[in-house]
Amino acid sequence: MRVLMVAPPGAGKGTQGAVIAEHFHVRRIAVGDLLRRNVSERTELGERVRTHLDRGELVPDEIVLELLRQALNEAKVAGDGYVLDGIPRTMTQALAAYRVARSLDMTADVALHLRADDEELVGRLLKRGEVEHRTDDTEPVIRRRLKLYREVTEPVLAFYARRGILLTVDATRPVEQVSADVLAGLAARAA
Ligand code: AP5
Repeated sequence: MRVLMVAPPGAGKGTQGAVIAEHFHVRRIAVGDLLRRNVSERTELGERVRTHLDRGELVPDEIVLELLRQALNEAKVAGDGYVLDGIPRTMTQALAAYRVARSLDMTADVALHLRADDEELVGRLLKRGEVEHRTDDTEPVIRRRLKLYREVTEPVLAFYARRGILLTVDATRPVEQVSADVLAGLAARAA
């Protein structure tokens, strides 16, 4: 099973990505986590992306696409499946990711869209900010991330709809209910 996720900040990409990875025994590739790890370890890459993350802006394509290339290579060696959290964020990334995946014979079977409205998402992320202190979980930055998603990421959904691989799930319900719909939808696609 090869799944990529397109969803706004706070919709549950991390939460549902972990459920999918465990259920289908596939590797979870979370670009935001990889970037944050580099920032906290103060690597050269981390220093290049820190400001972008703090401001809720996209990091340059060449950085995320190189991370993707490495991660897909590792996933192929590990057994072929993956759940991809965080790419694509733009149409340019969608096309580049498709080319990378196709070169490895690893294109996605399903593009999972978790749908939720902004006020629900702002509430979730402010709550997480109080506990985890992620630097981008402050209200102005959350709203900037959401605006970016609506303007440049959401339009990418049409690309996956045209390819016939789009699966949309209502992500405003409790986590377990969302997981049940996600797994049922993916199982139906795998059959
Ligand atoms: P990234 O880490 O991907 O952040 P994000 O897209 O803003 O998403 P979040 O991690 O905030 O939310 P999520 O959808 O994973 O939800 P989660 O499960 O955590 O990216 C961070 C930054 O990295 C970007 O801003 C950018 O700078 C850079 N970046 C990443 N990818 C990039 C790319 N391709 N190109 C360029 N730059 C890139 O849940 C959120 C909270 O809600 C949690 O507390 C959770 O417990 C709770 N929750 C989840 N589901 C539910 C539910 N159903 N009901 C109630 N609460 C719920």
